[in-house]
Amino acid sequence: MLEQIRSTVSYIRSRTDFVPEVGIILGTGLGGLVENIDVKAAIDYKDIPNFPVSTVEGHQGRLIFGVLGGRKVVAMQGRFHFYEGYTPQQVVFPVRVMKFLGIGCLFVSNASGGVNPGYHTGDLMVITDHINLIPNPLIGPNIAELGPRFPDMHDAYDPALIAKADAIAAQEGIALQHGCYVGGTGPTYETQSEYGYFRAIGGDAVGMSTTPEVIAARHMGLPVFGVSVITNVGLSEEKSSHEEVQAEGVKAAKRMTKLFIEMIKNL
Ligand code: HPA
Repeated sequence: MLEQIRSTVSYIRSRTDFVPEVGIILGTGLGGLVENIDVKAAIDYKDIPNFPVSTVEGHQGRLIFGVLGGRKVVAMQGRFHFYEGYTPQQVVFPVRVMKFLGIGCLFVSNASGGVNPGYHTGDLMVITDHINLIPNPLIGPNIAELGPRFPDMHDAYDPALIAKADAIAAQEGIALQHGCYVGGTGPTYETQSEYGYFRAIGGDAVGMSTTPEVIAARHMGLPVFGVSVITNVGLSEEKSSHEEVQAEGVKAAKRMTKLFIEMIKNL
């Protein structure tokens, strides 16, 4: 694994000498943030050794290096999901690569279904905690160079970054929910009973990503900030469709983009 990470990093280094400070993972329908990046280099996932290739529509599959809010960032336009058939280790591989490229913190975003009855389609939810129901990417021999065997998961989502988000949101007039993200395997959206179950176990939103990447980031000691865009509300008469999820993501993405940019400026 370490060798794979190192060889991928050296390939990327052969394409660009850009050293990013911040890593960003863009979820379904949220790739629009890239338009705000002053792009210095872009590499297709399919060209990167050891990177899986993204298979879902709406995920373009590029690593983008550039300047955002005055800081050097690397953004993943499209991510890898467990439901696509990748192992949890493949899903988190790019996060490990970004850490070795130099990032000092990770911003994650996703589209998710609200299970908190107070949530509405289009809400932004700052992730304050998670419940991981996807096989853990740290299962297997521990790679001590990456982090400890038994990583602590208190404050998995950095409290100082959450406080910064709240201050910026108040200033910019962006409404934020705060809640617990449940990472499920997908690819089915939930039955009504499953949405009810995720609510009952303490979730506010449910999606099919993020928790593996956050676990890998925390294993390596990276502070994490995460936002879920609520693209549908689970406990409702309406059915969840991928088209709806993408369309709602696009609409709410502008507010999420604004929040990310202002936070990155103020890191
Ligand atoms: N469930 C799981 N994942 C999702 C949902 C949902 O309702 N909406 C967007 N991603």
